[in-house]
Amino acid sequence: MRQDYLGFVTQLQRQHPDIAHVHVLGERVTHVFHPDYVREVLVDQSDALIRWERATEVFSVSMGQSVLVTEGAQWQRQRRMLQPGFTPKRVAGYAGLMATATRTALDALAGQVQAQGQAQGQTHSADVEALMTRVTLDVILRTLFGQHQVQDARPLAQAIQTLSHYGYTQFFMPFSWPMWMPLPAVRRARAALRTLNTLIGQHIGLAQARGDDGGGDLLTMLRLARDPEQATQGLSAQELHDQTMVMFQAGHETSATALTWWCGLMARHPEVARRIRHEVDTVLQGQDPTPATLAHLPWLQASIKESLRLYPPAAILMTRRACKDIRVGPWRLPKGQLIALTPYVIQRDARWFDHPDDFRPERFLPDAPEVPRGAWAPFGTGPRVCIGQHFAMLEIGLIAAMLMQRFHLHWPQGAAWPAVDLAVSLRPAKAMVLNLKLRARPSLASPQDRQQIADPTASKTSTSGTS
Ligand code: HEM
Repeated sequence: MRQDYLGFVTQLQRQHPDIAHVHVLGERVTHVFHPDYVREVLVDQSDALIRWERATEVFSVSMGQSVLVTEGAQWQRQRRMLQPGFTPKRVAGYAGLMATATRTALDALAGQVQAQGQAQGQTHSADVEALMTRVTLDVILRTLFGQHQVQDARPLAQAIQTLSHYGYTQFFMPFSWPMWMPLPAVRRARAALRTLNTLIGQHIGLAQARGDDGGGDLLTMLRLARDPEQATQGLSAQELHDQTMVMFQAGHETSATALTWWCGLMARHPEVARRIRHEVDTVLQGQDPTPATLAHLPWLQASIKESLRLYPPAAILMTRRACKDIRVGPWRLPKGQLIALTPYVIQRDARWFDHPDDFRPERFLPDAPEVPRGAWAPFGTGPRVCIGQHFAMLEIGLIAAMLMQRFHLHWPQGAAWPAVDLAVSLRPAKAMVLNLKLRARPSLASPQDRQQIADPTASKTSTSGTS
């Protein structure tokens, strides 16, 4: 299990397609696979469950008592206060900041590519994970803080990675070392945490000095958040710090990972990429995408959903502990049982997804047969569903569309598709290095293209072999 957790759970699901009970190191764990059971656990039984304590202990080291970590009345209060800042309408207000961050990063890259001889038609090889980390980091800095003070974001990206890796090693230990321990790994985690705490502290200080400037950023939203049940009550200073930290960390690594896999799939499936490029050119006509225009890009949206199906970035968060006896289907699960939900396996079930390992975005086109509820849940479902899901889908859509406007992505000849590496997020086991080729200015689509895009299912593209 430890060597290949996903391989183990995949085998388990093949033997027991709906639900499986296993004993691991004295723990009784139920793996839930059937979408109906997924919903029974995450939606119907949510009151009787808490997050796996070991995960929350580990996350609390860097995310304190934030909405990702808390339970019960404290979680309910925090979620009530934050939720209004993450509705689709509210999130659409961050689109301008997101597009600016993306434009800046991609235009810098385009300049770099040009300088390296693109004029002669050469390709530029790029580690897309590093590139997407840069872009999403800038997006979260701008959306979180408005005008941020960060000149060089690399130490921040490094600090998040260090904490993420440190966190993952801790999941498999029965307890965490105290943060003062003079061990090299703890020392590195401590330094990383100090870097992020300084960033958050500085920006909260600046925002408080500015007062309520009506800024449309996430930090202003957090500062002004009020409990609807006690309208005078806002977040305490510590809560404000912790919520800002969770938005910063959760809002960046998962999106970067999602975009990395999506870029790889685009390079690997040029026929799908071509369709999406036509669609993007026709609808956007060279303009930056907006929430409204993204809604008219069904192939782009479907390709993102399909990429999140094959490679759901958040791999661990959805494990729960039963606080009392519960029923799941015909089964009684006793108090104390751990319940594991593994979207990577649930979302590759051949009963709901024909040729489940193939990349087929048309599964998610508007007129495709409906996917059973609970079978696609990269953001979870139920009351604890990812609060940032609309934010993430908007951010990924904007970045993906703008990338398509500027570059062709090519898979390097002879390179193998990377295996998955399960850390806190589900990343490629080796760097996803792609060949980027700068596009000429996006041309307006021909009338035939317009026709094809108006009817995206006219010739369904079926592609196979993601690996
Ligand atoms: C592709 C990007 C993302 C993915 C795949 C993702 C996935 C998830 C998942 C699976 C959960 C746990 C759901 C559960 O336990 O049932 C979660 C929780 C959470 N996510 Fe995301 N997330 C993403 C982006 C974001 C962004 C952009 C933000 C914030 C700006 C964010 C903030 C949070 C928070 C605060 C929670 C805890 C919610 C709670 O427990 O009430 N996430 N996310």
